[in-house]
Amino acid sequence: MKKPKILVTRRWPEKVEIKLSETYDVTFNETDIALTTIDFCEALKKYDAILPTVTDIMPKKIFETTNIRTRILGNYGVGYAHIDISVAQSLGITVTNTPDVLSDCTADITLTLMLMAARRAGEGEREVRASQWEGWKPTHLVGTKLTGKTLGIIGFGRIGQEVAKRAHHGFGMKILVQNRSSIDRSILNQTKAVQIDKIDDLLPDIDFLSLHCPGGEENRDLISLAELKLMKQEAILINTARGEVVNDSALIYALKNKIIYAAGLDVYNGEPNLNKEYLDCPNATLLPHLGSATNETREAMGFRVIKNLDEFFSGQVPVDKVS
Ligand code: DGY
Repeated sequence: MKKPKILVTRRWPEKVEIKLSETYDVTFNETDIALTTIDFCEALKKYDAILPTVTDIMPKKIFETTNIRTRILGNYGVGYAHIDISVAQSLGITVTNTPDVLSDCTADITLTLMLMAARRAGEGEREVRASQWEGWKPTHLVGTKLTGKTLGIIGFGRIGQEVAKRAHHGFGMKILVQNRSSIDRSILNQTKAVQIDKIDDLLPDIDFLSLHCPGGEENRDLISLAELKLMKQEAILINTARGEVVNDSALIYALKNKIIYAAGLDVYNGEPNLNKEYLDCPNATLLPHLGSATNETREAMGFRVIKNLDEFFSGQVPVDKVS
């Protein structure tokens, strides 16, 4: 039987690329430069499967091409708001993602940002590197504690729950959650979390807010100036979800005018071209979308895509089918 033709849009960990090549007729993107709209239109005619990432924006117009050969998009990542799922679905193209395997690492980077923002670690590191540190003094770069504080989590899926475990069991934090659907009591009990119906009712009571909801149009600007104004002046906002969930101008205004204390961001609207005004906010800790960036996780994500492909091409429904 002829091997299915697969396009991998970015470089993957070597072990996973080798494994993929054992079963499939694979084209790798040797340049590792994100594909263009035209590239995608061509690819849809040529490959049985395309394996995109968060950097591959696949809107409706890409699918308007004729003679589509592609039957599955095996997304390398859990978030898939960059793919127009409803159009893919209407064309009978299966879309899969890679949940579970990146929950630990994304939760870890969330706690990294909470600590960095609270303890002003970015400011401190910049000072040392610029040879501007004048030595210890009681008033130098004083931040704020995590221990015993209240953490609000919007979106209590796998990643949100892992964040809650670390914050509650590691730092004794009280957990408040807001989620579209009702969360099972047994899950809430693991971290003594309390579910609050409305975001507006959660915001005034928390010291940290961490976002773990999906991106896309449904959650665009979920956190805007009105929401930031409901938060405490000492509060810290963390976004490891998707850039569009936070309104950039509102957050920059809030950071500059001390409406909130600080922010820790791993994701951005239109990344990698983040709003440059963030660079003028010393109270913003800025990471370059590192949530899943560990060897273990990046390999596990790749193997999870392969599992989905194997299931699909052997006639089963892939375990991570999202549409
Ligand atoms: C994810 O899996 O959604 C990560 O943000 C990388 O895309």
